[in-house]
Amino acid sequence: MVKIAPSILSADFSNLIADVTKVEEAGCDLLHIDVMDGHFVPNITLGPPIVKSLKGKTKLPFDVHLMIENPDKYIEDFVNAGADIISVHSETCIHLHRTIQQIKKHGVKAAVALNPATPLTVIEYVLEDLDMVLIMTVNPGFGGQSFIPSMIEKIKKLKTMIEERNLNIDIQVDGGIKPDNVHLVTGAGANVIVAGSAIFNSKDIKTTVELIRKNAL
Ligand code: DX5
Ligand code: ZN
Repeated sequence: MVKIAPSILSADFSNLIADVTKVEEAGCDLLHIDVMDGHFVPNITLGPPIVKSLKGKTKLPFDVHLMIENPDKYIEDFVNAGADIISVHSETCIHLHRTIQQIKKHGVKAAVALNPATPLTVIEYVLEDLDMVLIMTVNPGFGGQSFIPSMIEKIKKLKTMIEERNLNIDIQVDGGIKPDNVHLVTGAGANVIVAGSAIFNSKDIKTTVELIRKNAL
């Protein structure tokens, strides 16, 4: 069974809790929160106060995707704001092993995100420590971009790496996922699906979420 994680990047920020409630009622599993700093990625989004403002107003676990430089500096703030899963980009971590331990020390789940051009070898020696790996299927920074097909092979390779070591690690995909291509990523081994524009820009959120789930099987 796949987990669906709507990205609030495409939600209506002037009425955020209303959109969050819609995706919760539509049966989504996680709330994907995209944090961008204008340095690691060209865009700026939101920080811990907004995450905190949603806590207690939804039962959805918070899946916080940090697209920021120097994530170590902010991990504690996002934990205190209510993060349940924290993803850091390998490209931003000089001491990736240390950063992962820092996340786990707070009792939240740790994930590493990889840009499309970043090879899987960067997680070879930390895989055992992870709860999830996030394969970016677009270059991070914006919602509404097109899925990069060469990532299918990368997902397959990661799935093999995980199976060979007998690990229980989620494979998340993020970027350009829609009802009509979700089968490609789940077929390759992904089980946590992020979708922003496909869900929030659709006329009927519930039907779209159900369609993603149906097509993923
Ligand atoms: C991209 C973000 C994604 C993005 C996905 O940098 O990490 O989570 O919001 O949006 P869609 O599904 O529209 O590609
Ligand atoms: Zn994201």
